[in-house]
Order: sequence, then structure tokens, then C-alpha cells
Amino acid sequence: MRMGKTESSSKIALVLLLLFFFSGSGYRVRAASSLGINYGKVADNLPAPAEVVRIIQSISISKAKLYDTDPLVLKTFRNTDISFLVAVPNEDLGSLSEQTAATTWVQQNILLYYPDTQIIGIVVGNEIFGNDQTAQWPQVFPAMTSIYAALLSFGLQDKIMVSTTHSFAILSSSFPPSTGAFTESIANTYIKPILSFLSATGAPFMINAYPFFAYKDNPTTVSLGYVLFEPNDGVVDSSNGLLYYNMFDAQIDAVYWAIARLGYNNISILVSETGWPSAGDKDEVGATVENAQIYHTNLFQHLLKSTGTPLKPNISLDVYLFALFNEDQKTGPTSEKHYGLFQPDGSKVYSFDFSQLSTGFSHRWHLIFAATCMIGTWMTLLNL
Ligand SMILES: *[C@@H]1O[C@H](CO)[C@@H](O)[C@H](O)[C@H]1NC(C)=O
Ligand SMILES: *[C@@H]1O[C@H](CO)[C@@H](O)[C@H](O)[C@H]1NC(C)=O
Repeated sequence: MRMGKTESSSKIALVLLLLFFFSGSGYRVRAASSLGINYGKVADNLPAPAEVVRIIQSISISKAKLYDTDPLVLKTFRNTDISFLVAVPNEDLGSLSEQTAATTWVQQNILLYYPDTQIIGIVVGNEIFGNDQTAQWPQVFPAMTSIYAALLSFGLQDKIMVSTTHSFAILSSSFPPSTGAFTESIANTYIKPILSFLSATGAPFMINAYPFFAYKDNPTTVSLGYVLFEPNDGVVDSSNGLLYYNMFDAQIDAVYWAIARLGYNNISILVSETGWPSAGDKDEVGATVENAQIYHTNLFQHLLKSTGTPLKPNISLDVYLFALFNEDQKTGPTSEKHYGLFQPDGSKVYSFDFSQLSTGFSHRWHLIFAATCMIGTWMTLLNL
């Protein structure tokens, strides 16, 4: 049967509309990696939180991570488009294994601000197994489970994830990546229960990854191009033939391997800190403004491609840069005070541009395609 003009027009319109919707879902399937920023405050000269909202928005970033639950920050960021990972400071872990204490903590530090302030996760302790405060080691897992139980009692367990951040130093082996393993003294006792928790709840394993440390410790054997994502010959993992062109990917895959060695294959990784200092002591080789700028620029381009790592291709990665500001009250080597993208006065330490975050490539193509479909639909409906 021959279709009338109106009938065929509406069929074409329908097809175009369907294309419009599928182009949208297709874009979401391969989600882009996302970029966040650590809002550290170990300083006496930082701008007020209201100014920090403006600074974070000005660089197109919409995810931030705190090292506490600073009431002023959480209040100030109400009704903004910026989401937060907040944290239980290490010294508070001990008291939170008790369920009543954990529930009160969630009421006072989360419920008071959520959902006006978008809190998407709670980091229960920072780099506990990488420090020598061994008394805190047994405190992490019980605090994680009681905080999770508190969220569950408020029906928030699927809205707010619970995890803890780890120093890369908890790996006893990381190169080649396939040898990745956690230090034996903590692997079964402390890390395994945490992995079991993450696997059950779907929260990511959070790692702080700094190729800078590896370079600084071995500047003659580690190539600068490899740590800065610059063109280089790559390094082969001989056990599986995978080729690595940057240390960042190699470090992440080493963590995947270490997790797999303890029997878990469905835990995602979130890079809770990475960065490069723009200044340092004489022996902190590579800590320069130029290298910091190259590291951030190339890391950003790498994440935009959403290619994943050689071991886990196509898996997008959430990465939180360290850090928003140079922090003058940080102790340790000089570099510690110079990880910031910004000076305390709000000026950039070096120029960088993350504006593609708001219009990533795939997103832009989707919009162009969607617009074409819409115009096509209207033209068909109007019988043009
Ligand atoms: C991981 O696998 C375990 C065991 O099959 C399952 O119970 C759990 O729900 C899975 N977790 C995720 C996040 O898929
Ligand atoms: C990753 O994505 C590419 C391009 O979309 C595809 O060709 C490849 O098969 C994917 N790899 C995996 C392991 O899913």
C-alpha cells in the first residue's frame, strides 16, 4: 500500500525522534571520565568559601573533595552544581566503630547539609595504611561499616558511597603492573575486609597516585616523558604484553592487579588524589612550574579520551586533582606547599584549561546530532 504524504512524514519524524533519544543514550553508555579537585585547607590565607565556589566554577569542575565536613564549606556550596566527597578525619575514626556514634556523626555531618549540598561519598580516613600510626589500622573497617549502616538506616546507602583513601605506598610491588600486590602485613588483615565491603556495596577503591614520587626518587632510570604523558617508546609488561605509555595508567593497573590478587574483580578504582608540585627542594627533581603544567594538561587530555587503561580499556575513571590551592601550612618537603593549581589570592599558578569538561567531544557531537534530528523532525512535520 502506498503511504500518503502525511503518514510517511510522521513515520520519518518518528524515526528522527527515536534517533534523537538513542543518540543520547549512546553517549551515556561510554561515559566520559570525570575530573574533580581536592579542596585542601591546610593554610591560613585561603579565600572565603563563597569565593572558592566561583573559582571552582570558573574552571568547569563540578566535583570536589574535602578532608573533613567543614560546616561553612558545606553550607556555602548549597544549591550549587558542585558535588562533594567529604571525609572522616583520621583522629575521629576510633570513636566511630560504635553504631550510635556513627549514626550521630552522619546526622550532624551529612544530614544537616544533604541534599541541598550534593554529598556523594564519605571517605573514612585518609592514607591510614600508608602511615605508621598502626593503632589506627584496625579502626578503618569498623568505622566504614557503621557509617554505612547509619546511611542504610536513613535510606541513603545508594546515594552516598563509603570508602577510604589509600597511599600508593601500600603496594609492595607495582612494576610491571601485573606484579601489583599489597604489602603483606596489611593485605589479608586490613585490605581484604575493605575489598569485600567495596565489592558488596559497589563503592570504588580510592587510590592516591603520584607518578611524581616515582620520578623524584629515580630521575635517572624513570623517563620524564613517561611520567608526564609525553610521547615515548612505552614500557611493556612482559607477563601479558600490555604496552604502557604513561606511569599513571601503569600505577592504576598495578592497583587492579593487587585487588585481583586478593580475589576481587568487580571493584572500580577512583583516583582520589593526583598532581604535580610546581616547586620543591633541590633534591625534589622535576618539581617545576613547567612540569606541573605539562602533567595537568596531558592528564586532562588523556582523561578526555576515556580510553581507560591497557588492562581495563574503555573503563572511565574519576580523578580528583591535588590540589585547588597552594597550602602554606603543610609540613614536610617544600613541594608539599606547592601542589596547588591556584595561589591563595585566586590567581592561577600556571595556565590551564579544563573548559572542554563542560562540552566534551562526545557531548558536543551528541548535541550537534540532536539538533540536526530536531530540525529534521520539524521540517518533516511541517512538510517542508
Ligand atoms: C561483585 O561480585 C559479587 C560476587 O559475585 C556480588 O555479590 C557483588 O554484588 C558484585 N558487586 C558489584 C559492585 O558488582
Ligand atoms: C573499547 O572500545 C573500542 C571502540 O569503541 C572497541 O573497539 C573495543 O572493542 C572496546 N574494548 C573493550 C575491551 O571493550
